[in-house]
Amino acid sequence: MKLTRRSALRMALAGVATSLVGSRAQAASAQIIRLTKIKVGGTYQFQLPNGAPALLFRTKTGVFAYQTICTHQGGLTKYFSPKKLLVCSVHNASFDPFKKGAVVTGPAVDPLPTVKVAVKSGWVVLA
Ligand code: FES
Repeated sequence: MKLTRRSALRMALAGVATSLVGSRAQAASAQIIRLTKIKVGGTYQFQLPNGAPALLFRTKTGVFAYQTICTHQGGLTKYFSPKKLLVCSVHNASFDPFKKGAVVTGPAVDPLPTVKVAVKSGWVVLA
C-alpha cells in the first residue's frame, strides 16, 4: 500500500476519532452506581473496565472499593458481613476491608488492591 500525505492524514484523523469515542465510552463506564442506590453499611459488586470483579462499600464517612481477586493465588473473595471480612474460598485467606484490605489470615501476604472511587454528581465513579 502506498502511503500518501492524504492517506496518512486520513489514518491520523481516524485514530483521533477512535480515541475520542474510546474516552467517552470509558467516561460513561466510570459510573458505578448512583449513591442513593446503596445504603450506608451496604456493599455493591461491580466489574472493573478490565473485567476484574470488585466490591464497593458505603460507610457513614464515604465510599471505598477493592478488587476482589485474592492476592494469594487468584481465588475469588466474598464479603462475609457477620465478621466484616472478605474471605477467599480457595484457601480461606481473609482481608479487612476497613483496614485498607489488610490480610487478617493467610496464606495471602499482600492486601487486596484498592480501587479508587469517588462521588461525583450523585454517582459513585471510578476516580
Ligand atoms: S487463592 Fe485465596 S487463599 Fe489461596
